[in-house]
Amino acid sequence: MPKIICINDYEGSRWELNADSGCTLMEVTVNNNVPGIVAECGGSCSCATCHVYVDDLWLGKLEEATQEEKDLIEFLDAARSNSRLSCQILLTDELDGLTLHIPESQE
Ligand code: FES
Repeated sequence: MPKIICINDYEGSRWELNADSGCTLMEVTVNNNVPGIVAECGGSCSCATCHVYVDDLWLGKLEEATQEEKDLIEFLDAARSNSRLSCQILLTDELDGLTLHIPESQE
């Protein structure tokens, strides 16, 4: 059961969430009411309202983003090199401790 750490740097908030392997990162944050993760499309990779910044230490441990995900991120004003769509990140036990930051524009 991986633990996920969400940080809102702008408000100084931090959440430690217990996740089930096989869930997406978006599902875990939405189910725990983390502000800023809206997920309007329900995880079908078409809205980008589940945008997060993945801590640099964890980026290389994730599956590479699909072209579809990259295309959506490209249109975000707040996109950075560590941007990902949380609905496209499948959680595994190896991701225990995964740390993400909530973009300011989604507060
Ligand atoms: S929930 Fe819509 S793109 Fe992730």
